[in-house]
Amino acid sequence: MSGIPHDHYEPKTSGEKWLHSRLPIVGLLYDTIMIPTPKNLNWMWIWGIVLTFCLALQIITGVVLAMHYTPHVDMAFASIEHIMRNVNGGHFIRYLHMNGASLFFFAVYLHIFRGLYYGSYKAPREITWIIGMLIYLLMMGTAFMGYVLPWGQMSFWGATVITGLFGAIPWIGEPIQTWLLGGPAVGNPTLNRFFSLHYLLPFVIAALVALHIWAFHTTGNNNPTGVDVRRTSKAEAQKDTVPFWPYFVIKDLFALAVIMVVFFAIVGFMPNYLGHPDNYIEANPLLTPPEIVPEWYFLPFYAILRAFTGDVWVVMFASWITGGIINAKFFGVLAMFGSIAVMALAPWLDTSSVRSGRYRPMFKWWFALLCVDFVVLMWAGGRPAEPPYSTISLIGAAYWFAYFLVILPLLGVIEKPEAQPATIEEDFDAHYGKAQTPAE
Ligand code: HEM
Repeated sequence: MSGIPHDHYEPKTSGEKWLHSRLPIVGLLYDTIMIPTPKNLNWMWIWGIVLTFCLALQIITGVVLAMHYTPHVDMAFASIEHIMRNVNGGHFIRYLHMNGASLFFFAVYLHIFRGLYYGSYKAPREITWIIGMLIYLLMMGTAFMGYVLPWGQMSFWGATVITGLFGAIPWIGEPIQTWLLGGPAVGNPTLNRFFSLHYLLPFVIAALVALHIWAFHTTGNNNPTGVDVRRTSKAEAQKDTVPFWPYFVIKDLFALAVIMVVFFAIVGFMPNYLGHPDNYIEANPLLTPPEIVPEWYFLPFYAILRAFTGDVWVVMFASWITGGIINAKFFGVLAMFGSIAVMALAPWLDTSSVRSGRYRPMFKWWFALLCVDFVVLMWAGGRPAEPPYSTISLIGAAYWFAYFLVILPLLGVIEKPEAQPATIEEDFDAHYGKAQTPAE
């Protein structure tokens, strides 16, 4: 026995014992991979592994791209062409990185909406949720800065529009904007700092992911019933769970393999499908493109940003009450960040005592509407900022806020939940029949 008391891992050989008494890292990895996991997890629990894969893919391909990329306004665009044409496998690495970002966001949206439906944000998993939200914000920052690096027309004008938003903040906005850009407008200092931060932030995300995993390993995973694993005895806990390895590792790897088939089909056959053709034109500060559209994964929040124009009554009211400090532009910025803030506050806004949406008859419909709302906002965000799209965006934005600030708090009071299974084992047996588990 080593001097460190340990529940599960027992070092056997003298080498293992030597290491374990100095740095119990094998024990830590062993306990992480063997963690008891609710045995009724469905396919919506695969996205965490897909996200981990995406982060690794982005870091590996990104580091290789950085070996050949030049962060200077006179050379950035040409260095990307150099990667595409001259570097061995360069076009493949670049397309993996470009489309990897899309897969990352696709997975994170499903991961977030899974959490919203099954109440994974609720006690005791608030910290997991908040760390997740921080990861999401950093992902958005990283992706935004990455898009500037090829120095195409959309890179330049996207950066101009988005950094311009900070200028809308009263009094301190312009100094902040200048500080972010490293000058009065998007230019070489901007490209340099964006490159530096784009390289740095994924490692900050990786550290946060470690905390995220630590947090939900402390509370245990949620599951589709939202019912807790029985902790009264080890035998009962074993009836509700199976070890993560091999059961969920194999399931997650299978899901990842299927997703890879689609991913590589896109990378191989239609790598520019999700991109904008204008980004193959070098940045020209003297020529504004006819439309400035962000990447698809920003569109729902871009729609919320543009929804609150000067003729919307809440904007007029806010402007009147603050003596004009909150104008339409600043209101839009507040709404965009606010839409993410209200989502982050979900653990405290949801008053229902039932965790999983499966047993909440009214919640289900409002949640389905939230999913539709998100897709509609994404669509409207990619259209011109004029009627009817601006009106649709406004309705979509209003529903987003109403869902978190009004519907979630109210439903907990007025809704009558359905009966939940007493245990995870009961739910599992009802779905798959009574099976022999390692515990039996
Ligand atoms: C790089 C990004 C992320 C990675 C690698 C990641 C990874 C994971 C993993 C591996 C799990 C275990 C269960 C599963 O596979 O679904 C998990 C659970 C969870 N994640 Fe994330 N996550 C990320 C981002 C987020 C974001 C943006 C949120 C939203 C706020 C979030 C919220 C949660 C919650 C609430 C759980 C607990 C669910 C449960 O216990 O079953 N995660 N995450």
